Amino acid sequence: MDDGNRGGDLRVSLAQELEGRGLGGAELAIVLGSGLGALADALEDATAVAHDELDGWPASTVPGHAGRFVSGTLEGRRVLVQQGRIHLYEGHSPRAVTAAVRAFAELGVPRLLLTNASGGLVPEWTPGTLMRITDHINFQGAAPLERGESGGGSPYDAELGETLARAAAKADIPLESGVYFATSGPAYETPAEIRAAIAMGAHAVGMSTALEAIAGHALGMRVGAVSCITNLAAGLKEDPLSHAEVVEAGSRASAQFACLLRGTVSELD
Ligand code: HPA
Repeated sequence: MDDGNRGGDLRVSLAQELEGRGLGGAELAIVLGSGLGALADALEDATAVAHDELDGWPASTVPGHAGRFVSGTLEGRRVLVQQGRIHLYEGHSPRAVTAAVRAFAELGVPRLLLTNASGGLVPEWTPGTLMRITDHINFQGAAPLERGESGGGSPYDAELGETLARAAAKADIPLESGVYFATSGPAYETPAEIRAAIAMGAHAVGMSTALEAIAGHALGMRVGAVSCITNLAAGLKEDPLSHAEVVEAGSRASAQFACLLRGTVSELD
């Protein structure tokens, strides 16, 4: 699907639409990954806009992704949540994948917290393990920046990372940290690809997050990211992986995940 221009058009209209419907002005934007939707239901004084109410916004085709933006208060702070992201593997361009992040930046939201479900590359990590992303290896064969925008260095903000770690320690939630290996999907990896990712220094593998992090960082946002490890990656476990297993494990970890994000919001300066 060629939606490159639509993604660009959406960037302008999405910020206006969200603001016009009272969803602007947040201290933090949070993008929720597969099966991790519980947090959106915890917002107080919530206002939601379903993706299908937004002219031209692509409907999510991924089970486990409700499509909506929700704004509300969490721990007394205004947050804006994207529940249901856009993926390259659904046939969308890097521009469309990063359209929401670009809208958040345009609305002046200073921080971006990206979450995802991912496969673990560390054999000891059981499903439900949470990992703070400190850096990534972008193996998606795609880049989100436009002419005049520049990136470089790890897009993940050390200070926001420390806030996540502090919140985890306070809530007694074990939080690993590591490097995220981003693939374009939609197929899960081969065992040989997983061996290569481990050799390259990665700790988790997934099909999202990298482009959004690059765009958010380039647009001046402080970016943090957390993976929920839903399974051991290919070759590290016996049976083949299914999307249903990923959503199931994500949902089971969802409450603890929501607790970590809530703690992080209350720890923001
Ligand atoms: N690989 C890629 N993406 C994923 C995985 C995985 O093992 N688990 C959840 N998302």
